[in-house]
Amino acid sequence: MKIAVLPGDGIGTEIVAEAVKVLNVLDLKFEMETALVGGAAYEAHGHPLPEATLKLAKEADAVLFGAVGDWKYDKLERALRPEQAILGLRKNLGLFANFRPAICYEQLVAASSLKPELISGLDILIIRELTGDIYFGAPRGRRTAVDGHFPGAEEAFDTMRYSRPEIERIAHVAFQAARKRSKRVTSVDKANVLETFQFWKDVVTEVGKEYPDVELDHMYVDNAAMQLVKAPKKFDVVVTGNMFGDILSDEAAMLTGSIGMLPSASLNASNQGLYEPSHGSAPDIAGKGIANPLATILSAAMMLRFSLNQASAADRIESAVKDVLASGLRTADIHSDGTTKVGTKQMGDAVVSALTTITKKTTKS
Ligand code: IPM
Ligand code: MG
Repeated sequence: MKIAVLPGDGIGTEIVAEAVKVLNVLDLKFEMETALVGGAAYEAHGHPLPEATLKLAKEADAVLFGAVGDWKYDKLERALRPEQAILGLRKNLGLFANFRPAICYEQLVAASSLKPELISGLDILIIRELTGDIYFGAPRGRRTAVDGHFPGAEEAFDTMRYSRPEIERIAHVAFQAARKRSKRVTSVDKANVLETFQFWKDVVTEVGKEYPDVELDHMYVDNAAMQLVKAPKKFDVVVTGNMFGDILSDEAAMLTGSIGMLPSASLNASNQGLYEPSHGSAPDIAGKGIANPLATILSAAMMLRFSLNQASAADRIESAVKDVLASGLRTADIHSDGTTKVGTKQMGDAVVSALTTITKKTTKS
């Protein structure tokens, strides 16, 4: 089992170190190799996704990714910004299916900005298409407008586009995921305004006919954003395009109390995957040892389940995280009265020791 470890920038290095620590106490053999990515790679090699890093990622069974980005790179030309590393990995590895579960841990209900009854028991799965849409559509650029409201003015443009196969394959992923859950899919679009998303809606509807056991409904993205805070538990599997998925997954993450808790998986057609926390590099708290490593640790669990075929090890990590939360340990982002505030390392250590206890129990029984 070959894992490419790409910690990246900001808190990336701190949180990935904790996830690696957790993987290392499992009774499994991994070949882990670390490489620079994002701003760190730009500083060292002049490019956010150096050839060697991309090669390592391509050859691995899975990529464990931290986070990239820092405001200090905002003035760089777009192609050299840290974010291009993650976009380049998604594109080059064909990671089109992005799973972003938003689960509210019972112990963290109080950390949410929503009323407890709205989010207690929340378990939704956002499936975001990750290699198409306005993120990757050409042409894009700047020019002098020849028409529009201000002909002759300077303008910028990006292209929103989806092809039928791109929509079909992500729709299949969503319906299949729904079959393993409550058999409901909400497809989010903007079909009332955008041709791209009328097409999206049409194709998802067609694919849905192959899954008569799964209930499909459609929702405009603005309404979905509203319903997510009004009645989030009405959702189960949500499938949407790249940009709407980017926005809605942040919103859904925050419902659960902290984006610091949420893992994600990005898979290609052969189940090779990149696993990363749903949050970013948080340069404001980098190096302080206070970041929450749980999203990354839970991403490592997803990696074991989806790409490495080690579901029982994944279960054990997830149980260990629950045990640690039950014991009252909290990083600053999820801390509330009556709980014990700990730093990144202490949280990682606590998961390691809970995991060791669970492993001992399972091998005995
Ligand atoms: C995410 C991030 C990325 C995205 C950025 C860093 C390019 O926000 O993974 O959600 O927009 O996809
Ligand atoms: Mg995002």
